[in-house]
Amino acid sequence: LALVLDSCWSQSYVLTDGDKLGRVFDGIGGLSGGGATSRLLVNYAEPYRSQILDYLFKPNFGASLHILKVEIGGDAQTTDGTEPSHMHYDNDENYFRGYEWWLMKEAKKRNPNITLIGLPWAFPGWVGRGKNWPYDYPDITAAYVVKWILGAKQYHDLDIQYVGIWNERSYDAKYIKVLRNLLDKVGLSGVGIIAADGDWSIANSMIDDLYLNDSVEVIGAHYPGTITVTEALKTQKKLWSSEDYSSFNDEVGGGCWARILNQNYVNGLMTATISWNLVASYYEDLPFGRDGLMTAEEPWSGNYVVESPIWITAHTTQFSQPGWTYLQTVGHLEHGGSYVALTDGKGNLTVVIETMTHDHSVCIRPPLPPFNVTSQNATFQLKGSFTSIEELQVWRSQFNFKTKKPYFFEKLPPLKVLNGSFTLSLAEDEVYTLTTITTGNKGSYPDPPPSAPFPKNQTNHTHTFQQTKTAPDFADQTGVFEYYVNLTDPGPHLFTLRQVVTQRPITWATDADQTISVIGDHQWQDLTVSCDIFMENIQTGGVFVAARVDKGGGSVRSARGVFFWVFADGSYRVTNDLAGQTVLAEGLSGTQAFGWYTLTLTVQGQYASGLLNGFPLWRNAVVLTPKNGWAAIGTHSFELAQFDNFSVIAE
Ligand code: GAL
Repeated sequence: LALVLDSCWSQSYVLTDGDKLGRVFDGIGGLSGGGATSRLLVNYAEPYRSQILDYLFKPNFGASLHILKVEIGGDAQTTDGTEPSHMHYDNDENYFRGYEWWLMKEAKKRNPNITLIGLPWAFPGWVGRGKNWPYDYPDITAAYVVKWILGAKQYHDLDIQYVGIWNERSYDAKYIKVLRNLLDKVGLSGVGIIAADGDWSIANSMIDDLYLNDSVEVIGAHYPGTITVTEALKTQKKLWSSEDYSSFNDEVGGGCWARILNQNYVNGLMTATISWNLVASYYEDLPFGRDGLMTAEEPWSGNYVVESPIWITAHTTQFSQPGWTYLQTVGHLEHGGSYVALTDGKGNLTVVIETMTHDHSVCIRPPLPPFNVTSQNATFQLKGSFTSIEELQVWRSQFNFKTKKPYFFEKLPPLKVLNGSFTLSLAEDEVYTLTTITTGNKGSYPDPPPSAPFPKNQTNHTHTFQQTKTAPDFADQTGVFEYYVNLTDPGPHLFTLRQVVTQRPITWATDADQTISVIGDHQWQDLTVSCDIFMENIQTGGVFVAARVDKGGGSVRSARGVFFWVFADGSYRVTNDLAGQTVLAEGLSGTQAFGWYTLTLTVQGQYASGLLNGFPLWRNAVVLTPKNGWAAIGTHSFELAQFDNFSVIAE
């Protein structure tokens, strides 16, 4: 850090609260869901699970996030899996499903001031009364969403502060007003509506429609590329980047995050930015692997990685809080890069500077227009009430792409302000925080256990679906698989896993027509999968166990693998795909609904064979592709079915 006094070759920038201030800052956040992005996090053993949560939420420790946004589960595939709804059926309510409630409580425990947001991606089928559309019965949809907010308070003492409409899908002005009205009626007038979590176009409708305008508190755009539109500014509403980032969390991902955190305000006057996703806690071979602020995708080993976006976040979050105000004096630096400044209005000042170069700060979307950044000296002059500041704390990150030895969030010696000004010599690809706040801290824990592949052997990996503390690592890709207490069969199958979605949801992605939950290592080739199964549909029931399942997420419909099915009509089938189009073998099995059977599937090289209740049913089906993939279980349609004693032995 070179301190150059009053240099003539240095561009200078004024930081003042003397004139009007800028907009009020609403915070930096992470998004869990959209979908199932935190699936594996909850399965981590302590102390690792708490450590990960500390890196995300604990004030003055790591990312110290201001905002947690979660998916309101809709029983449907929403990118990396499905998340359960609080109302699978219209007469059903349960506020203890999934992991978002737990996550919100853990976040709140660490930061009681964290802002909580809920947003649906998909809805259970009954909400649309069978139509793949949530707006024909706006009262039903609004009641469904408001119940989730009331349930959060009643069962978890969580105050949801904002709610959204329908992620990246059409909004409906009528529905938004109905939702606003219902929120007000039940005493939730403090819950703000964010709309419409897509492009900025709702701003046009708001200008023309006063009631709509009154109903919306925040215009939330996704991946805005740091810019907004005049109509959005004209509404004078809060503007947020309510979903952004979604970039692989290597150093370029960190660079993307550094650039947009500053420039979403500098270029677009957006006062909050929310990262998709919060933490990459899903199998890396699912879509958008590692697109989180940090990585925690190995509950079986305990390994996790605190990636650069965590420390880039800290540059802003540890030194400014929601309610602080941006100064008017923010902008671009002469030779590229940007600076923002915020104040609490009580004399505190935080300045965040980034000099990310184009190629080191590309995000997944939108395309990044060319620009140049070169090293430069920058002189900042403190005016207004900041004139009296004598010393600033300095935190620096250097990406060092050339040497590949980055330093993140380093505390440097405090900087003396002389005659109300200071000069920084800025290199390319750096982030600086200069601040009067003295509580900054780079938190750390001892290294977690080393990375390891998913366990291969049966002893480590036989799961009887009892309500044990550590859940198995099933990742539902269509349908929802839940623990179930099977009281009508209190024998050996009292505790089971049950697929519970019985109607095609109002989808966000293209869910399969079958349900499926995957588990294990995508690299697995030769293995034996075994599971006890129980169909609950007479005649039409069908279930499978599978190996080498190659796809999940939005492509789950076209998943291939080796699928061993039995049906309640007394037949079996072996198919090469989830859709059941390529049949490798078929015949009679004698299987019926409401009886337990054990299915065993062995795949070795190019051959597969199957056992029913331990006896050979078919053998030597020829499997050429796929060569590898996860193990899986599932059902033939959206139907109830149970599973127990799942085991897999991989070679
Ligand atoms: C967004 C979507 C997220 C996730 C992300 C992946 O558009 O809202 O759920 O799919 O894209 O980049």
